[in-house]
Amino acid sequence: MAKTTRITYRCSFCGKEQNEVQRLIAGPGGVYVCDECTHAFTEVLANAESALALPAHTRVLTAADPYKEKVGGLVRCSFCGKSREQVNAMIAGPGGVHICNECVDLCLQIIEEERNPAAHGHAEQTHAPSSADGVRKHLLDVDDWSASEIGALFARADAMGAALARPETKLDTLRGKVMVNLFYENSTRTRVSFELAGKKLGADVTNVTASASSVTKGESLIDTVRTLQALGARIVVVRSSQAGAPDLIARHIDGSVLNAGDGWHAHPTQALLDLYTIVRRLGPVRGRRIVILGDILHSRVARSNIWTLTAMGATVVLCGPPTLLPPAAADLYAARPVPGTDARREVIVEPHIERALEGADVVMALRLQRERQQAGLLPSIREYSAVWGLTPERLKLANPGALVLHPGPMNEGVEIDPAVAYGDASVIEEQVTNGVAIRMAALELVAGADQKRGE
Ligand code: CP
Repeated sequence: MAKTTRITYRCSFCGKEQNEVQRLIAGPGGVYVCDECTHAFTEVLANAESALALPAHTRVLTAADPYKEKVGGLVRCSFCGKSREQVNAMIAGPGGVHICNECVDLCLQIIEEERNPAAHGHAEQTHAPSSADGVRKHLLDVDDWSASEIGALFARADAMGAALARPETKLDTLRGKVMVNLFYENSTRTRVSFELAGKKLGADVTNVTASASSVTKGESLIDTVRTLQALGARIVVVRSSQAGAPDLIARHIDGSVLNAGDGWHAHPTQALLDLYTIVRRLGPVRGRRIVILGDILHSRVARSNIWTLTAMGATVVLCGPPTLLPPAAADLYAARPVPGTDARREVIVEPHIERALEGADVVMALRLQRERQQAGLLPSIREYSAVWGLTPERLKLANPGALVLHPGPMNEGVEIDPAVAYGDASVIEEQVTNGVAIRMAALELVAGADQKRGE
């Protein structure tokens, strides 16, 4: 029987373990904040003279503090990635961890609503429910998806693909339902494919971007979604730079929420369409070596892909510069067995690109996310490209017939050579095409939960 490693999670600010506090909220890349620190930070941010002491080695940054770390990088929130200039206040903890006032607010809301859901207008538990009955109210992440649930969704995506091959017909799965694409970050593939998927299923689809909404006049996320609900929205597809925003919305509306990418945290439909594309080309991924290459630290796509690929039995190899790899990634994933089994998730960190690519069945190149990075993580783009770029020569190390994926948008000539991006091994455009069928299947899944609630 596979052995499972036990990992102790600690608050990155006060160092208390999970069992010493009431709630530990996870950020990306292995950072955590506990409920006690969240309350202390909230009070100190509201009142600098607060009696609630901050933990040792933790303090609110002031104007006298430099805006860059000693190593030369901008000071950024370890949870949402925003720089100090983009937020009102930033709290520094030990070991270079930071949290901004916006993420403190979000954590506080999550904690308070878990303690007293009725006071927040929703007595129902709105976490994504178990899909034992084949139904999910929301699609917020894929960390708790089993192989059989993924397989069932893919069977529905096959049926959706067949429906898409008949452009003249529309399905009525979502007929009479209002679906809102609420995008606080830019997107081409995800937003358009969700819109096409919703329309094909018969929904009334509307798009809201933050820059063209009352968010610019100071309306909060919660007020925005309540307004959308008052306008009849039953399905909200949300993209946000803040990890946890879809989860928060899910607690405030009666309808369903689908995460279209939140901060560094998760991009569940991207992971599902990536896996679907691989399976359609190569068959089952069990035992396959799948390399995720590049800026893994900032990648919600990588995080979600690790859950789905390992759930199906693939070995995931993470490769990139040490500054762009999440610490202890292999142990963190191995500590959470695949749902319904005691199977250990196989994740390997291999910092040498040639060793990582040798024998690979799939190489997934990731975009270098310059907008989320601290300066100082890389010597230069030219050096990154020279050392970590996926070139035709490097791809020859992979197995014959290996596939190349990229979630897009690509920085051609940086993380991927155009000869690879448009070469025979590339299935990048297939990923985009498959995104519509996968998102139709995901919308149908949550619509099933809506139907059940209405019965
Ligand atoms: N892969 C992805 O999320 O692309 P978009 O940002 O264009 O949606």
